[in-house]
Amino acid sequence: MARYEKPDYWTLRAKKEGYPARSVYKLKEADEKFGLLKPGGGVFRVLDLGAAPGSWTLYVLRTLASRFQNGRAFLAAADLAPLSREYGNREYNGHVHGRDLFEGDHFFFMQGDITSQAVRDALVSRGPYDLVISDAAPATTGNRSVDTFRSLELAGTAADYAASSLRPGGNLFVKVFQGGDAPALLKKIREQFTTGKSFKPASCRSESFETYYLGLGKK
Ligand SMILES: C[S@@+](CC[C@H](N)C(=O)[O-])C[C@H]1O[C@@H](n2cnc3c(N)ncnc32)[C@H](O)[C@@H]1O
Repeated sequence: MARYEKPDYWTLRAKKEGYPARSVYKLKEADEKFGLLKPGGGVFRVLDLGAAPGSWTLYVLRTLASRFQNGRAFLAAADLAPLSREYGNREYNGHVHGRDLFEGDHFFFMQGDITSQAVRDALVSRGPYDLVISDAAPATTGNRSVDTFRSLELAGTAADYAASSLRPGGNLFVKVFQGGDAPALLKKIREQFTTGKSFKPASCRSESFETYYLGLGKK
């Protein structure tokens, strides 16, 4: 059995807590540490890029549903692949929402390429956002420099969305494979935000070369 096929602590926990993927704990840790989904004035708006199968999407929807009243929060999400929608009304942590979290005006999903103009127009027009999160990652080839280059293109796309559609004071949380020109992206984030830093959540596989960049407080 390949190393990645063996279910680990985080995979088993995700299954138990009703999430389609272990990646949810990366966002959860960042949210708990940096207060990404904190209530503010007005409708709190989030953009989720590279969202499928939908663990981050569900985490955001569940968190917003518990922290905000109806109509006080909105999430837009996009991915090349569809979401695993059967998780929308599942029980989690002993709690069941009375409705399917993927249904309603508080949520918009578009299946498509986040680098395309059609997706960009649809997402930007639903902003401005308080938070942009991107877990978008290329299908890996095993060639580290190719994978790093493609990951960096997607992370740069997320940073462009943040530049054009984040409100002043808003935050960015984006996945990036370490290597290549990644430091140049962090430098750009530092120019656009009050704080820019690298953050590797505990649930990242130790052998993985992925990490996350945070931009806190858009200027
Ligand atoms: C690691 S997965 C995201 C996991 C997700 N955050 C979750 O918690 O379920 C990376 C995703 O990036 C998506 N992706 C890669 N390139 C993309 C692109 N150009 N446009 C949209 N989505 C893309 C892939 O389809 C894949 O679903």
